[in-house]
Amino acid sequence: MELCVALDLPTAEENLALAKQLKEHNIWMKVGFRTYIRDGKPFIEALKEINPNFKIFLDLKLYDIPNTMADAAEEIAKIGVDMFNIHASAGSIAMKTIMDRLSSYEKRPLVLAVTALTSFDEENFQTIYEKGINEKAEQFAKMSYENGLDGVVCSTFESRVIKNATSTEFLTLCPGIRPFGEDAGDQQRVATLELAQKEGVDFPVIGRPIYRDENPASKVSQILKII
Ligand code: C5P
Repeated sequence: MELCVALDLPTAEENLALAKQLKEHNIWMKVGFRTYIRDGKPFIEALKEINPNFKIFLDLKLYDIPNTMADAAEEIAKIGVDMFNIHASAGSIAMKTIMDRLSSYEKRPLVLAVTALTSFDEENFQTIYEKGINEKAEQFAKMSYENGLDGVVCSTFESRVIKNATSTEFLTLCPGIRPFGEDAGDQQRVATLELAQKEGVDFPVIGRPIYRDENPASKVSQILKII
């Protein structure tokens, strides 16, 4: 299991200050929409200056026509990030086009697909996808696996089912982790680190339980002792 810290603080300065507190550890840093739109590539370079061994997950959830997605994937590979994601509902042609395009890169980033956004409830999800969340998440995971992606973004509660339907090597990245049962905030279905381990989660994504702690560095050390 490899820890991925969500850099969700409101400004670049605060996110970089958090990264500085955690620089002893060669962990993953998740850079999302808001930060990337505002602070762009220089922010990623600043993170790498703090610790060149930080691994970067660019969480932009791409969704467009296959060629446009593959163009974007190539630009992401050129930035030198270590992992990015797309929406699985972009479909198998988009997946295949992206993976074909990245195959010429010696060190390509890992590519994950988002199965179901956790903000959906069952009813709203069905309105769009005409299937239940669990069934569709498994179907999306299989499609991602068959088209050569490295893994999916899913909840801890789907991690084992998805691995059983694909391969134990197929990566699961799971937000909604409360390592030691901390406050859930707006997350509906949260899991402890212990459960995440049991369910075979490869990347637990943890935001608030780390950056809202009065000592984020010691919280990360506690987490790393377990995983
Ligand atoms: O603070 P917390 O640990 O809940 O942060 C979880 C992170 O994972 C946030 O950046 C959130 O946007 C992201 N995420 C999520 N659910 C998804 C996809 C991403 O919570 N399905």
